[in-house]
Amino acid sequence: MAKPVSIEVWNPNGKYRVVSTKSMPGTRWINLLIEQDCRVEICTQKKTILSVEDIIALIGDKCDGVIGQLTEDWGETLFSALSRAGGKAFSNMAVGYNNVDVNAANKYGVAVGNTPGVLTETTAELAASLSLAAARRIVEADEFMRAGLYDGWLPHLFVGNLLKGQTVGVIGAGRIGSAYARMMIEGFKMNLIYYDLYQSTRLEKFVTAYGEFLKANGEQPVTWRRAATMDEVLREADVISLHPILDKTTYHLINKDSLATMKKEAILVNCSRGPVVDEVALVEHLKHNPMFRVGLDVFEEEPYMKPGLSDMKNAIVVPHIASASKWTREGMATLAALNVLGKIKGYPVWSDPNRVEPFLNGNVPPPAACPSIVNAKVLSLPVSKL
Ligand SMILES: NC(=O)c1ccc[n+]([C@@H]2O[C@H](COP(=O)([O-])OP(=O)(O)OC[C@H]3O[C@@H](n4cnc5c(N)ncnc54)[C@H](O)[C@@H]3O)[C@@H](O)[C@H]2O)c1
Repeated sequence: MAKPVSIEVWNPNGKYRVVSTKSMPGTRWINLLIEQDCRVEICTQKKTILSVEDIIALIGDKCDGVIGQLTEDWGETLFSALSRAGGKAFSNMAVGYNNVDVNAANKYGVAVGNTPGVLTETTAELAASLSLAAARRIVEADEFMRAGLYDGWLPHLFVGNLLKGQTVGVIGAGRIGSAYARMMIEGFKMNLIYYDLYQSTRLEKFVTAYGEFLKANGEQPVTWRRAATMDEVLREADVISLHPILDKTTYHLINKDSLATMKKEAILVNCSRGPVVDEVALVEHLKHNPMFRVGLDVFEEEPYMKPGLSDMKNAIVVPHIASASKWTREGMATLAALNVLGKIKGYPVWSDPNRVEPFLNGNVPPPAACPSIVNAKVLSLPVSKL
């Protein structure tokens, strides 16, 4: 028998039982569920990462839907437990769902939701922050200052890289990669080289138009190029930011060989998923290339860092906070709750998961639809006409 896990209960007499494995920001998501006759149970166990056994205990004998987190292992065991409890709805509170075995969910007919769109700009802003912090050595300089080592201005003190006119390389130019590219191009007048399996026409059009605007104002225009291989990006870019999904094709995309391809003074930023980078190879590269700098939001085996990484002055490390703005985290909670609610109520799936604004306006009721269900096609779920 699984050990009981502590919970907080909202609307105890609600008809549908919805479990959230974590407390999530804001209260709108709770209210939206309660208004539709859900009993909401939120796990309050003081444990950052819940085990499969903990979640089985939370699911219990009767559960209509679960809102889970990217730190949890949603596979065969949990989807079969949810299905046995009568549940057909699950949503990750994240856009990435590499922690979810979607085939297992399909097998049990469980819809898998995610939360795209709402975290695009916030995540891109953190990638931009890490790029700037690495280029201008902000963390090192802050530590130096606090240690009382500053004894006056010096020509060589914390000299870093100027971004203007340099080349930004984006690997994975989807929603977040494109938003990041635009920030670096518009904000710092960098040129773009990108690699993606698909052409990013909107991004290309943006850079072309911005380049023309700069030219018309007597400034050097910015340029773009879609690289045929990732190596071209690695060779040519001064700042490289990683934004692909994590799957078999992107596991250790950045390894010993790809690091050796980059410029000695390049900056590498990772706000995608830790295993996209071979972290052991990265530590070695940082040791031997003191001018190479890295900004990391994600790690290969979270919450741990590979040995030696925390000693590297040329690495900036933050604890997976790329989506951590109030608006975004509250929006993610809302989208995750509405994915689960929509499936329970038999609503159709929203036609465009990139256009989730109608679900985020707290002043009006959200559309009667699931904002984003990744296995909607496989499960033949109806699509909203709204
Ligand atoms: N650090 C964080 O807190 C945080 C927050 C949000 C998202 N993320 C991560 O960012 C990822 C991207 O999010 P998004 O909303 O931009 O997704 P998206 O699907 O819009 O973009 C992903 C892009 O990667 C491309 N891609 C896939 N395989 C590739 C490959 N082998 N090489 C090059 N490109 C490839 C896709 O074609 C797509 O354009 C998520 O899957 C998630 O893992 C992290």
